[in-house]
Amino acid sequence: MKTITGIAPVNIAVIKYWGKRDEDLILPINDSLSCTLSTDFMCAKTTIMASPTFTTHRFWLNNKETDFNNERLNNCLTEVRKRASPECGDLLNWKLHICSENNFPTAAGLASSAAGYAALVSTLAALYGVEGDISAIARRGSGSACRSIYGGFVRWNKGVKPGGEDSMAGQIAPAAHWPEIRVLILVVSDDQKKYSSTNGMKQSVLTSDLLKHRTEKIVPGRVDEIIRAIKMKNFEAFAKITMQDSNQFHAICLDTFPPCFYMNDVSRAIIELVHAYNEFQGTTKVAYTFDAGPNACLYLLENDVDEIVSLINDIFPSNINPSDFIRGLPVKVKNLSDLRETLKIQPQTPGKLKYVIHTKIGDGPKILSEASDHLLGENGLPKNL
Ligand code: DP6
Repeated sequence: MKTITGIAPVNIAVIKYWGKRDEDLILPINDSLSCTLSTDFMCAKTTIMASPTFTTHRFWLNNKETDFNNERLNNCLTEVRKRASPECGDLLNWKLHICSENNFPTAAGLASSAAGYAALVSTLAALYGVEGDISAIARRGSGSACRSIYGGFVRWNKGVKPGGEDSMAGQIAPAAHWPEIRVLILVVSDDQKKYSSTNGMKQSVLTSDLLKHRTEKIVPGRVDEIIRAIKMKNFEAFAKITMQDSNQFHAICLDTFPPCFYMNDVSRAIIELVHAYNEFQGTTKVAYTFDAGPNACLYLLENDVDEIVSLINDIFPSNINPSDFIRGLPVKVKNLSDLRETLKIQPQTPGKLKYVIHTKIGDGPKILSEASDHLLGENGLPKNL
């Protein structure tokens, strides 16, 4: 019997992946770029147990047994096994029990599938002793998962080969290159999203002319520009491109027929707040980006966290315990109602924001070595069931 547990981070794109040229191989129509978030507050964890006594493969996701017969899961497993170390021997014939958990809401536009597949593939790779890049395998689970294989600032090269061998992620700079960057995740809704990214982007490829323009004319230049901004630690340039790319992605969602709406009124109030604050400061202090859901991800610098979180706290009052409302790294919240009035922003009714996670950029997946880390017990069943 062999048991192994790994964790993998969430990543939030600043240049979005939206659209595939090959649905089965998950090959994108454009390059994308993201920041990998620290696993301290948001991560997916996977335990894999292989045993000669197991009769079938079994899979538990967030404490519910789920059908193993899932194409993406099986594609990842097949690809990892093709690259197994020659020393694996019989291990390759043993059935697997896999248990996976996220410590944040699944499918709410919070990149849960990216972290989940990155955890699955990196743990499988450790089980079978796979060497070299595994991002092209994680890509077979969920496109954005390939970027969670690396820490820091990560680019997914779309590649040109029909088989997708060159469609893989690579690190632009490690987290330590720009340690002052902070990230705020503003959780607007815990609900499962109605229109998945997979379906949304498929429809965009079929119907949106704006998407063609973006892919051909906009993304190549933007990727080069944001890489320059990251290398020079130019926050203003980084922030502006991030916001413009998020806005263009949501414009494409609207240009899709029938359209897909991911942002809601609270998301739009967050956008207005960010622009009002940046204008008041006379410089770009904070950037927003939204994926396929209403939750916002804000990028900012360490020195501005207290003021911006205090302002958010004033505009979006919580209806829960303050310590549950602001989670993650410490923040000093002060009363900023004067600044809010200067910005001419009305407070929202309490509870529009569920909670805020304050985090930073972090490293890639890790294998955990303590037996207490395993999600599966000695009997091969989830400890939490
Ligand atoms: C809006 O990676 O979830 O978050 O490849 O079909 O699994 P599939 O899609 P997925 O799409 C993510 C889209 C996005 C933008 C991004 O992360 O780049």
